[in-house]
Amino acid sequence: MKFRKKIVAGNWKMNKTLADAENLASAIKLDLAEYREVDVVLCPPFTALKTVGEIISDTHIKLGAQNMHWESSGAFTGEISPSMLRDLFCRYVILGHSERRSIFGETDTMINRKVKAALAANLTPILCVGETLDQRDSGKAGEVVRHQLIAGLEGLKDELKNIVIAYEPVWAIGTGRTATPEQAQDMHAHVRRILCEIAGEETASAIRIQYGGSVKPSNAAEIFRQPDVDGGLIGGASLEARSFVEIVRAAG
Ligand code: PGA
Repeated sequence: MKFRKKIVAGNWKMNKTLADAENLASAIKLDLAEYREVDVVLCPPFTALKTVGEIISDTHIKLGAQNMHWESSGAFTGEISPSMLRDLFCRYVILGHSERRSIFGETDTMINRKVKAALAANLTPILCVGETLDQRDSGKAGEVVRHQLIAGLEGLKDELKNIVIAYEPVWAIGTGRTATPEQAQDMHAHVRRILCEIAGEETASAIRIQYGGSVKPSNAAEIFRQPDVDGGLIGGASLEARSFVEIVRAAG
């Protein structure tokens, strides 16, 4: 099996004022500045990108955004473009998070445009996929994730070696209820098979697939030990330095 370096990203969502963000990034930096075993990414809100970016600029920790628009500029009130993120030294961007899909009406077509725009701007997309509880209970989880991947990655093939996928079952996000390691592994293996259909074996085996949904220091190691789980996308537990650092170390 191909070696895939694990990647753990903190999705701060709509949390942290500038002062709070500064404190959190500085505390994480104290512990992880020189840590190279795992790729570490911080995704603060847009308003804190510049500050957090400056704090981590002399470390191995990378900066990511939580969303962006697909156009490079123009009359799109309230939106942020790929080049604006590049300007702030972002390397990653979370796209298609379930909160973007369900609360803000993002469709697979919009997400596909964003993925293409991110890759064109040399940003690594973290494309989120995942089923709701209803979909899982009715046996449709595999089908839903397949559809999200096929539609979200439409028109892309070789470029996909530069992408990260996050499998985040919607029923596990912020609920305290985590997928079991077996449930995660089953879905991650399914995701990799679909990536293989889309982009071929070599590319599929290089793509990192994160698990997200109530990852905590107490359950991280067991989840990360699964062969197709290549790290995590962490929400709640990334808002506190100690728990985030513990999770990162559990991936190492
Ligand atoms: P959670 O969020 O860790 O708080 O469940 C994960 C996410 O939404 O990315």
